Amino acid sequence: MICCQRHLFEIPEDVAYLNCAYMSPLMKPVVEAGNAGLARKMRPWEITPEKFFSGAEEFRATIGRLIDCSADCVAIVPSASYGIATAAWNLPLGKGKKILVLEEQFPSNYYPWKRVAEETGASLKVATWPEDGDWTHAVLAALSEDVAIAALPHVQWTSGGRLDLVKIGEACRRIGTALALDLTQSLGVLPFSVADVQPDFAVAACYKWLMSPYTTGLLYVSPKWHEGRPLEENWIQRANARDFASLILYTEGYDSGARRFDMGERSNFGLLPAAKRAIGQLLEWGVAELSDTIGTINRELLAATEELGFSATPEKFRAPHYLCLRRKAGISKELPQTLAREKVFVSVRGSSMRVTPHVYNSKRDMEKLVECLRTAAKG
Ligand SMILES: Cc1ncc(COP(=O)(O)O)c(C=O)c1O
Repeated sequence: MICCQRHLFEIPEDVAYLNCAYMSPLMKPVVEAGNAGLARKMRPWEITPEKFFSGAEEFRATIGRLIDCSADCVAIVPSASYGIATAAWNLPLGKGKKILVLEEQFPSNYYPWKRVAEETGASLKVATWPEDGDWTHAVLAALSEDVAIAALPHVQWTSGGRLDLVKIGEACRRIGTALALDLTQSLGVLPFSVADVQPDFAVAACYKWLMSPYTTGLLYVSPKWHEGRPLEENWIQRANARDFASLILYTEGYDSGARRFDMGERSNFGLLPAAKRAIGQLLEWGVAELSDTIGTINRELLAATEELGFSATPEKFRAPHYLCLRRKAGISKELPQTLAREKVFVSVRGSSMRVTPHVYNSKRDMEKLVECLRTAAKG
């Protein structure tokens, strides 16, 4: 168990922030790294051309450590939607083919697929919410040879259900289905290895569980797609980008590996050092340890709220860090505002109240949530 790390954050004692799935708070050292990065532009003469590349490579290498791949397979993107659009742009589809998504999938991982389906004569196939909470089984049952692409998350975001991506990856490879993943609600807190899952593309926005600034994101691209088409055609993705004086000697060639998929201005001098610092801290804590620690907090929370009529996806099918509480009587959309008046912060998504703590939460935070829910239940 990782002990409470609140000292690294600037969270007042009376705030119970249980909403990491909405947006994580930045750690103080992460803000310091970001401020130092931003301040570099007060002295632009010190930002040499080499620095347009070195920070990006350090970020790529950090992601490589996190997801178990070479830095060569990592592109720098601003959002999950950018990465998913890249995957949708590159994965082949055709008339009569299907794209598998989950019921209530996050919109950024739904609309791009709907669009390419409409444009190619393909269609969406939806794995419906399983009554027993087993999303892995729902996906495996829905995979068939006409499914060209499985566009999935690691955690279904309105239920907290966890998908066994190793099993799903194997099943996809057996029938020739491409696998495109949105890891935004899991990466950094649920162990994930590219080597084990073997996706074609995997994206994550970094401002939630990767504890990084908003508008930082990563895109894993399998070597199979390194010759693919980027969303943008910019100068820094090109083979000759390091020679600033000769950029006008236009070239057909791209930089190596997944770098061609980088967004324009990817050498973000303020945000990338902050993201690297944040993810470095997660690696220091250990992703499996974070999962166990937050899982224990959530197990205790669930036990305390069960008495108040709440339930969740069974533990064996649930992501440890992501607790979606449901109630027969339903959850009011206004509940987060009621709790916020007591400085307790959660979200409502679909029919669930989503409680997503992290290592900055104290025992007192959990007690406060349970007290507030008890009071709300009486009222
Ligand atoms: C599952 C999931 N994917 C992606 C995102 C963010 O998408 P984008 O980076 O396109 O804003 C969110 C935000 O809530 C999310 O929950």
